[in-house]
Amino acid sequence: MLTKSRYQARTMAEADISQVVEIERESFPTTWPHTAYRRELSNQMARYAVLVDSAEEPVAAPPRRRSLLDLLRRGDPAPPTSDYIVGYVGVWLMVDEAHIVAIAVREGYRGRGLGELLLAEAIDLALANRQENVTLEVRRSNVVAQNLYEKYRFLKVGVRRRYYSDNGEDAIIMSTPPIQGDNYTEYLAYLRDQWERKHEGA
Ligand SMILES: CC(C)(COP(=O)(O)OP(=O)(O)OC[C@H]1O[C@@H](n2cnc3c(N)ncnc32)[C@H](O)[C@@H]1OP(=O)(O)O)[C@@H](O)C(=O)NCCC(=O)NCCS
Repeated sequence: MLTKSRYQARTMAEADISQVVEIERESFPTTWPHTAYRRELSNQMARYAVLVDSAEEPVAAPPRRRSLLDLLRRGDPAPPTSDYIVGYVGVWLMVDEAHIVAIAVREGYRGRGLGELLLAEAIDLALANRQENVTLEVRRSNVVAQNLYEKYRFLKVGVRRRYYSDNGEDAIIMSTPPIQGDNYTEYLAYLRDQWERKHEGA
């Protein structure tokens, strides 16, 4: 059964990094190393959320390289586990604008409304942090993602020519209207309601 309660968004933790990197590898041509995610998790400006599939078993996270302190400790600690992660989103909080730096859903889970849950989570984070709007860059060819953003009223506001170094593709800059007003929050509530009607019990 596909219900909102099967998929829960929560703050990303260190034990989630290897699954996030796995999803990133199947989603983007260029990827970040584990260390970059570790830095991001302690970056005051950044907020990362993961979407958990509670119907799947937790996954053992690979242990970090052991430090001298670990070696001096007696006994082997139990390896950390992480819930089964099906997507993630990263947001940077600028002065009054939230910038989505990454959003991706596991390949086998796409087209089930989970990208929407992640985008809604990012917008909720922006609202909670008193940001005025949400922006992002998207490849010109990425029509699926552009459709998702347009559903949430992002508008195309500019172009960064040859922004992506792997193939020289342009980035389209997209931005929401002001998110703090009733207009937008009522629209979000409408979308949430539509999501539940469409996916509950499917
Ligand atoms: C973009 C991405 C996050 C969307 O996640 P998803 O879970 O597949 O999308 P959802 O099922 O939530 O769909 C939400 C909306 O996206 C659009 N969409 C989704 N799949 C689509 C498809 N195959 N064709 C066209 N539009 C599509 C639709 O507007 C859809 O709304 P609708 O169901 O009312 O039509 C996912 O495809 C992904 O991880 N892609 C690879 C990484 C990526 O490109 N990230 C964006 C970087 S800017």
